[in-house]
Amino acid sequence: MDRRYFLKSFGAACISLPYTQYGLADQHQTPFLLRAEPGETHLVGPDFPATHVWSFNGQVPGTPIRVSLGERINATLSNHLEDPTTVHWHGIRLPNDMDGVAGLTQAAVKPGEEFEYSFVPPDAGTFWYHSHVNAFEQVGRGLYGPLIIDEPDPPQVDRDLIWMIDDWRLLNDASISEDFGSGHDKSHAGRIGNVPTVNGRFRDVVQVRSGERIRLRLINASNARNFSLTFSDLAPSVIAIDGQAVTPYVATTPIIVGVAGRVDLIIDMTGEPGSRSTVVDSFYRDSFDLTAFVYEKAKPLRTEPADWPIALSPSQLPTPDLDGALTQDVIIQGGAMGGLNRAKLDGQWMDLRDIARQGLVWAINDTVAHKLDIPPLIDVTRGTSVRLIIENRTAFPHPMHLHGHHMLMISIDGKPLSTPRWVDSPLILPKQRVELAFVADNPGKWLFHCHALEHHAAGLGALVNVT
Ligand code: C2O
Ligand code: CU
Repeated sequence: MDRRYFLKSFGAACISLPYTQYGLADQHQTPFLLRAEPGETHLVGPDFPATHVWSFNGQVPGTPIRVSLGERINATLSNHLEDPTTVHWHGIRLPNDMDGVAGLTQAAVKPGEEFEYSFVPPDAGTFWYHSHVNAFEQVGRGLYGPLIIDEPDPPQVDRDLIWMIDDWRLLNDASISEDFGSGHDKSHAGRIGNVPTVNGRFRDVVQVRSGERIRLRLINASNARNFSLTFSDLAPSVIAIDGQAVTPYVATTPIIVGVAGRVDLIIDMTGEPGSRSTVVDSFYRDSFDLTAFVYEKAKPLRTEPADWPIALSPSQLPTPDLDGALTQDVIIQGGAMGGLNRAKLDGQWMDLRDIARQGLVWAINDTVAHKLDIPPLIDVTRGTSVRLIIENRTAFPHPMHLHGHHMLMISIDGKPLSTPRWVDSPLILPKQRVELAFVADNPGKWLFHCHALEHHAAGLGALVNVT
């Protein structure tokens, strides 16, 4: 198998004829039904066989769930797979028993069974949902979808688009490579694929009208691939990160969308009718075209960019008290080239080679998280401000996701951010030291883990207990 077959064979240019127009139909319907079921989809285009996937409602990404801020989400998960599953609502500050972590917040939903989720999302923004049972396999096979909570006062745009980005490891017949959770993926960068898709399509294009203003919601559903995107001649403004508003700024450097992260952009389509603007990824050594905007021939919608305001209303999140905060060091260790020799498994110091025999290679503060009922890394009473100092002592980036809360990113490598920003899945690069803080105001036992899903499966996780 040549893992790079797809990326290589398509070279630097996108397919010029779209075989489908991007677009996910919004569905304002409640209760939402999420049937977890096998399905087939043409990820790579009509010239290849369809790929057998696991999906919500037969499509990848699954049905977009979209409600207005303040509306309750009622969703029935109906499991038509042969494996147990759940739904986790990534980034939503919801009650613990709705968080969807099998074995921690609920029992896995068995084949043939159902589970009712019901909660009122407290924040507007761009989120997503996905399976939280063997996520490295189930999310890798397609069990995820977008989750949009609309602001009461969204910025005016001509179109509001979702790009749910994924990264598949396909064989040359477009079938999924079955090597989920391999030792190499666990101990290195995770399951990096060879077919990056946007809304379930490889190298499709999106048609735009010259002059139009688009809100573009980027969601990275990949198991392990991070993205660093540039938009040719366009000048996107960043208006939200991980669902939370930021003071808008024009991106002058590539836009990083780490695993599980979201970025909301406002883009004025300033190209000429009939032209094209490619979207290029350059996170890893070889850059490639992710997709392209293709302009219709129609005359521009407007000649000057719209002068409508683009800022979102500020987030309504509790501000941590930094002076009174409990400070916790979080040292990420292990993996290939990580130099870790010993760690604790079940409270016992062990040689890392013996731990690796059980498929585990990562640790936080010398502790390997091999199951969910480990002693919490952080155990606080409700309302406590917590400061995390995360240090990545490994050779790989780690997108660290905290369930049930958002964290304020305060500094990177000791340099304070000029404007701290809210995150729920910050990407911590090798050797980086990132300072974050949050108010632990949501009671329950919450996962805090690497969202490179093979890393989590190989021990990179911890618990935060709020009582
Ligand atoms: Cu997006 Cu623990 O999950
Ligand atoms: Cu990781």
